[in-house]
Amino acid sequence: MITSEEKLRKQAYEAVEKNKETVQADPYRQGYHMMPPVGLLNDPNGWIQWRGTYHMFFQWMPFHTGHGAKYWGHYSSENLVDWKLEPIALTPGDWFDKNGCYSGSAIEHDDKLKVFYTGNVRNNQGERETYQCLAESINGNDFVKKGVKAELPEGYTAHFRDPKVWKHEGKWYMVVGAQTLERQGAVALLESEDLEIWTHKGELAGPVEGLGYMWECPDTFELDGQGVLIFSPQGVEAQGIDFNNQYQTGYVTGELDYEAGKLNHGAFTELDRGFEFYAPQSMIDKKGRRLLVGWMGVPDQNEEHHPTIKHHWIHNLTLPRELKFINGKIHQLPIEEMKQLREEKLFEEVVGADLSKTLPRTAELEMDVDGSLSQFELHLFDYLSLTYSKETGYFTMERTSLATGNTESRSCRLIEGLQQMKVFIDHSSVEIFLNDGKEVFTSRMFAEPDERMVKVVHKGKERLKLTAWQLRNDAIDQDIHVNNI
Ligand code: FRU
Repeated sequence: MITSEEKLRKQAYEAVEKNKETVQADPYRQGYHMMPPVGLLNDPNGWIQWRGTYHMFFQWMPFHTGHGAKYWGHYSSENLVDWKLEPIALTPGDWFDKNGCYSGSAIEHDDKLKVFYTGNVRNNQGERETYQCLAESINGNDFVKKGVKAELPEGYTAHFRDPKVWKHEGKWYMVVGAQTLERQGAVALLESEDLEIWTHKGELAGPVEGLGYMWECPDTFELDGQGVLIFSPQGVEAQGIDFNNQYQTGYVTGELDYEAGKLNHGAFTELDRGFEFYAPQSMIDKKGRRLLVGWMGVPDQNEEHHPTIKHHWIHNLTLPRELKFINGKIHQLPIEEMKQLREEKLFEEVVGADLSKTLPRTAELEMDVDGSLSQFELHLFDYLSLTYSKETGYFTMERTSLATGNTESRSCRLIEGLQQMKVFIDHSSVEIFLNDGKEVFTSRMFAEPDERMVKVVHKGKERLKLTAWQLRNDAIDQDIHVNNI
């Protein structure tokens, strides 16, 4: 007898097979960003380096390009650049996760790779139930579910999910994204000696007036001596250039007090300034780097208007970024491994006036300025415009809205001027790192597939050096290596 879990796995693999050619034929298919083999991808999950290999799991709906009962898809990599799709890690086939193996995290313990995730359930009355569950693997590929390890504590609605687990001085901790009974966002803290019995300690942070009705995907860690909490609040109102996306992602910093189970923190700062960024997750790798990957999408934000839907897939992950805490702010830097994606150097020029170039659809563009720029524009593929003015201090990204056809923009202020910029272009996305990762703009970019023109408008006197590389187009291997589908 085939179990419901086996049946669901089989159906997912069939969906991959059936749609392979349609997905592959999409000109917007990414060359070096992790994307689903078919269907919808959202949050990065279980991000870890285990026995040397990097593992990235992801929220996955194989059967259509909307949300629903999520699986955990799985990629692995030896070098953070070449990613190989692995067999499905988690399937929503048990009573405690039947409506989705929702987001969670990975740890190493007892020589095993263990993942904690949220079992999402709709009961017979149609009400939501939530269970924090464990699954483990001895080879990094096949996972055995160990069932429910923590039930919903008192004081919260069933919007209680996305466990991130870590160890500190011999004890295990879990933060969970939560909504209080007063419908405010918060982060719950749980504690365990053995990963089996979890005790609710209270709120690590929140609620905070004006910071929304639900906080998703919390991630707590120390970075260069600072206590950090990254989370994705829902229900924050836009204020000027801040909080312009449908839902936000950002962080607070302060002192992580394990005794009290509190993070005494300051104000909430957005992590990324682009149109599409949400639910990131971080981990420390064997080189001691804090590496972060996000979902290059935002829930409920024009998802139905993405043109890739025609090709039966939607969304991708961001590149991994290294986090540093510099002068009170989290910086995100492209990792050094990205250099391995470079093929040919296309040009290296000191720009004294306006300039037009063509670039391939997988490319890296670097700009260095002697001093800082007074006035600058970069137009990418007749789709995205980036402008900077020293007078106002604003750096602005503009594109045509996927939904309305109107122009939409996102901005940040660079008081210190625009000194340096790195741009990673993939077939349908762009990631822009300003001033050594002090500000980052992450966005999808659905330019006409054969559009190649890049224009720089530079009227100032400053020396501006532009370097461009062609990047590899074949870093994502989606052939699933399963023996017994
Ligand atoms: C964030 C999120 C998580 C949840 C998952 C479901 O995008 O809503 O809170 O676990 O996605 O796919």
